[in-house]
Amino acid sequence: MATIAETSRVHPNVKLGENVVIEDFCIIGYPPKGYDSGELELVIGDNTIIRSHSVIYAGSSIGQGCHIGHSVFIREHVEVGNGSSIGVNCIIEHHCTLGENVRMQGQAGLCEYTTVEDEAWIGPRVVTTNVMHPTCDRAKECLNGPTIGKRVILGANVCLAPGIEVGADAFVSASSMVTKSVEDGAILFGNPAKKVSQVEKVKCGFDMVSESPYPRNKEKLEQPQPQVPLMDLGAQYQALKQELRMATDRVVLNSRFINGKEVGEFEQAFAEYCGVKHAIGVGNGTDAIVLALKALNIGAGDEVITASHTFIATAEAIVAVGARPVFVDVDEVRFTLDPEKVAAAITENTKAIIPVHIYGQPADMSALMKIARENNLKVVEDGAQAHGAKDDGTTVGQWGDAACFSFYPGKNLGAYGDAGAVVTNDDALAARIRMLKDHGRDKKYTHDLIGVNSRLDTLHAAVLNVKLKRLNKWNKARNNAAAYYRENLQNIDVRCPVAAEGVEHVYHLFVIRTADRDALQQYMKERGVATGVHYPLPLHLQPALAELSYKRGDFPLTETLAEEILSLPMFPEITTQQQDRVIAAISDFFKDKGA
Ligand SMILES: Cc1ncc(COP(=O)(O)O)c(C=O)c1O
Repeated sequence: MATIAETSRVHPNVKLGENVVIEDFCIIGYPPKGYDSGELELVIGDNTIIRSHSVIYAGSSIGQGCHIGHSVFIREHVEVGNGSSIGVNCIIEHHCTLGENVRMQGQAGLCEYTTVEDEAWIGPRVVTTNVMHPTCDRAKECLNGPTIGKRVILGANVCLAPGIEVGADAFVSASSMVTKSVEDGAILFGNPAKKVSQVEKVKCGFDMVSESPYPRNKEKLEQPQPQVPLMDLGAQYQALKQELRMATDRVVLNSRFINGKEVGEFEQAFAEYCGVKHAIGVGNGTDAIVLALKALNIGAGDEVITASHTFIATAEAIVAVGARPVFVDVDEVRFTLDPEKVAAAITENTKAIIPVHIYGQPADMSALMKIARENNLKVVEDGAQAHGAKDDGTTVGQWGDAACFSFYPGKNLGAYGDAGAVVTNDDALAARIRMLKDHGRDKKYTHDLIGVNSRLDTLHAAVLNVKLKRLNKWNKARNNAAAYYRENLQNIDVRCPVAAEGVEHVYHLFVIRTADRDALQQYMKERGVATGVHYPLPLHLQPALAELSYKRGDFPLTETLAEEILSLPMFPEITTQQQDRVIAAISDFFKDKGA
């Protein structure tokens, strides 16, 4: 039951949770311009208090256990996370997103499209701004509010410039004007704000959630916890949504959905990222391999050596060009092609090797390239899971004749649908792939080759341009999460993945090994922790490839891996609390088993 003061007006279609309190003279669910009363929903979570004289528009949602102070004004399309507190006289304009346990002190103002992440503290009279091009007559079409990272502290009267990101844990002192993005944990001062120190050096150790004086947070902590997902694309979207919306809106406004300028921009940026001359955007990662093999003239009668421990796409592409996949076993450390076994599998028909940089770790490329050179074989790297991974300072994509990437949404660099790319240093090969992926042409209606339609869509390229800038930061966050798992799983009876010496792993997946895999997976599921198995049936045992006449026992390590591997939740935004739940579930499983 909610308690609503008689002087307040609650419009239709307002969903009030248990124990919501609405004090005097509030207007709740006010219809935004162009909408009728009750047309848009407004949700207010359990145990939230709305003090007197506040106005909250319809089309927003306020979490559980929030405290909305006196005379607060909240527009439509605003999300306020659980346990947040909005001080007296604050203004939150439309399309703002606030995470959980955010604190906004009195008279602070968030302009449209501002994002505030969990536990940020926003001092009195802080303002954010969003007009990127103030003198343009279309200025309103490209508003871009700042992003205030997790646990950021903004002192009184801080002003944030449009579109900047204030990194997690940063501290901005009172009255600073912040004109540029701020790195994680930086301490800033002045106008324009300059970095003066790093938070770790002066940290007082106060925990804003568990030591908070607000009893409602404690209630929140006792609520049932949501699932820990295997990956969380929503979390990534929350952090980038303004920029993504602007980027995709631009494509829609220009209507260049095919071969728009964003495609060229992405191809150039991705080639630079990989440290190669050419990147050719294509429809997906599978097509990338098919096109690379075709352009290298690999086809009927040819053999291509690859791993059985990979996703079906690698072998599918070989079959698609009419060649025969020849599988070999993987090595114990990297779970990728074992060079000795590759050498032993070469016949007079062998034309190419496809090393798969599985889970984000490069294959042993110096050994494989030596074998390829000695035997005059082409090398096509399958980098679908390893954007940005390195070995001895060389980036995935730089070794082979060509390297193929998938931008499937869940990959380290993911589009919003299927997308892929081939990268190469070979000018002629690049030109051929460019023609093959676009109906075999380089002029509008003259087709020199029989090609396919497998272009990178402009909308995907626009999304990838926004995301590519963050890829290194995300790969670093994955490494930090991997280190945390490793440190906290060391006394538990599971085997953690190992990065070979000199390797910069990018942990597309964090895959542990245990002989009790199925039981552990089920136990974790019951504890609300999602896991995956990549992959449960090796390719040499797949029904679709039965014609190749492989049998169980052919690749012992690959087969053992398929029975023992378990992928734990892994994504750049994973929190320590989520990882602790994963670790506790694994630890409890083995304790229960021993008991
Ligand atoms: C190792 C590997 N190769 C190739 C692919 C194929 O990529 P796509 O799904 O974009 O076709 C994938 C995708 O999951 C993969 O993991």
